Amino acid sequence: MIIIKSREDIAKMRVAGRCARVICETLAAHISPGITTKALDTEAAELMRNQGVQSAFLGYRGYPGTICISVNEEVVHGIPGPRRIAVGDIIGIDVGVVVDGFNGDTALTVMVGVTDPDVIRLVEVTKQALQSGIAQAHVGRRLSDVSHAIEQTATAAGFSVVRDFVGHGIGRKMHEDPQIPNYGPAGKGPKLLAGMTLAIEPMVNLGGAEVCVLGDGWTVVTRDRRPSAHFEHTIVVGETAADILTDSGAEKIA
Ligand code: MF3
Ligand code: CO
Ligand code: CO
Repeated sequence: MIIIKSREDIAKMRVAGRCARVICETLAAHISPGITTKALDTEAAELMRNQGVQSAFLGYRGYPGTICISVNEEVVHGIPGPRRIAVGDIIGIDVGVVVDGFNGDTALTVMVGVTDPDVIRLVEVTKQALQSGIAQAHVGRRLSDVSHAIEQTATAAGFSVVRDFVGHGIGRKMHEDPQIPNYGPAGKGPKLLAGMTLAIEPMVNLGGAEVCVLGDGWTVVTRDRRPSAHFEHTIVVGETAADILTDSGAEKIA
């Protein structure tokens, strides 16, 4: 069952979403070579404490981190630890918070002095894939129109889409119905209705689509160990367009 949110619910989700995004972008701005992923997790915890909000991830099914940080071949759910970020890395930062009973969930991938043109293109195309999915998230479309648009953007560029992990509805719970695959034919699944809140999150691989989970039980890596990128926004379906709830609210120059 897909829960339609009220105006009041959406106002609360916008606060949670903005908070998650500001933390995500703050961490991204503080990334530099030599820093450990654990240091970023500690900073995330401090930012959340200062804002008086809770991590949506810490303790979720036993997850040990405040946020997820996934480096290079790591796709999603990387556990922060002693790994040091190096020049040429791509770093996925995924932040979820709970504010006033509602969740916001957002992710981005930052490049640290990347010069490999294929890796740069992977990151840019994955970001575009998220935007193309969001562009379908309005009344008059069906759920799989979102999925199909994402897949088209990724595969047209020669990349492959991860099939084993998907986007999701979101609200009082981080993971609600429906599941949102990043692939599939257009025109299928439930009709999108105003007030549905969705976390859309393409995971796109430079090589093959296959992934596996490391022995820590969490970290998802590409089977071929080639790089993967991830972007995520929490949105609300609108009459003519989606509204991005995980917007930082900052003025963007250029
Ligand atoms: N934020 C992830 C998602 O986009 C879920 C993280 S699971 C956790 O759905 F256990 F790491 F929190
Ligand atoms: Co997320
Ligand atoms: Co999510």
